[in-house]
Amino acid sequence: MQELHAHLNGSISEETMRKLLSRRNGPTADTKMMFDKGQTATLEDCFNMFKLIHQVTVDTESVYMVACDVIREFAADNVKYLELRSTPREVVATGMTKEKYIEAILQAMKDCEKENLDIIVKLILAIDRRNGVKVAMETVNLAAKYRESSAGRVVGIDLSGDPKVGDGCDFIPAFQAAKAKGLKLALHLAEVPAVEETKEILQIVPDRIGHGTCLHTEAGGSQDLVDLVTHHQIPIELCLTSNVIGQTVPHFDNHQFKFWYAKNHPCVICTDDKGVFNTTLSNEYSIASRTFSLDERTLYQLSLQSIQYIFADDSVKADLKSRWKTWEAERFPITT
Ligand code: IMP
Ligand code: ZN
Repeated sequence: MQELHAHLNGSISEETMRKLLSRRNGPTADTKMMFDKGQTATLEDCFNMFKLIHQVTVDTESVYMVACDVIREFAADNVKYLELRSTPREVVATGMTKEKYIEAILQAMKDCEKENLDIIVKLILAIDRRNGVKVAMETVNLAAKYRESSAGRVVGIDLSGDPKVGDGCDFIPAFQAAKAKGLKLALHLAEVPAVEETKEILQIVPDRIGHGTCLHTEAGGSQDLVDLVTHHQIPIELCLTSNVIGQTVPHFDNHQFKFWYAKNHPCVICTDDKGVFNTTLSNEYSIASRTFSLDERTLYQLSLQSIQYIFADDSVKADLKSRWKTWEAERFPITT
């Protein structure tokens, strides 16, 4: 499998959280940092949870530890290619600058490479909608700088944060600057109904869309949005548990996966925040399988097709495809 939509601070496991809470003052060990299975919440609850988590990842040691653990956990879940995304954060009290934050993650990626975990990891830097345009442009410049100095480990830019805050169109110049610097764009779009904002951002044709919950008319979107996304064949990163717990989708049956999959549109199953939403990528594939009656071969095809949409270069894609094909020949031998 490949995981293309995983926020670092949302992906912290219970075990890692325990280690973090024992390290410093802040939220106590019994503070809830994840939702229970089957629980529902509001988007506001989710964003409050991120604020709590940010109180325990305030220094480079914590960020490094979190990144190492998250990479190892995805590898243990049989993820062979991972794109982590994270918002560069400065914490004056501990001396953590945005540069040090990014370098801690890159160091974790490099150190995990030495552990022979059988996983390729790339990094996407996130623009938080709450932080405004100036910060967004800074993030783009940081991404360009670290792409050069990290042997291509930094691959792109994300737009995330509370979708009800601010106007995503304000960031269009930052997205254009990122594109001009050769960075890929994975943007959270239409998590809540926002037809005009989404239409305008789609004009720059992002490389992938996060969630796209409210693109189609039945979910508060419009046919224009569907036509644009379909015309440009923009892959959509779909995170089932995240959307159901956050209640942007009432039930798995109503998840937008159904709409886009039925159109044969590029769909990528992802976790979003495996820690906060208490899930794994395998679990997300199982939910998709149970909810939409997809057999093992169909899941395999979905996973194989997702390789086309990764932000790594063509040689990585070719290697992954060849591994997938080898596995296919073993798992589904042709019988005569
Ligand atoms: P970080 O960027 O590694 O700190 O990961 C946590 C951040 O990811 C949150 O503060 C949000 O900005 C963002 N995030 C995580 N999940 C979502 C989501 O479902 N929608 C929008 N933003 C999200
Ligand atoms: Zn997300």
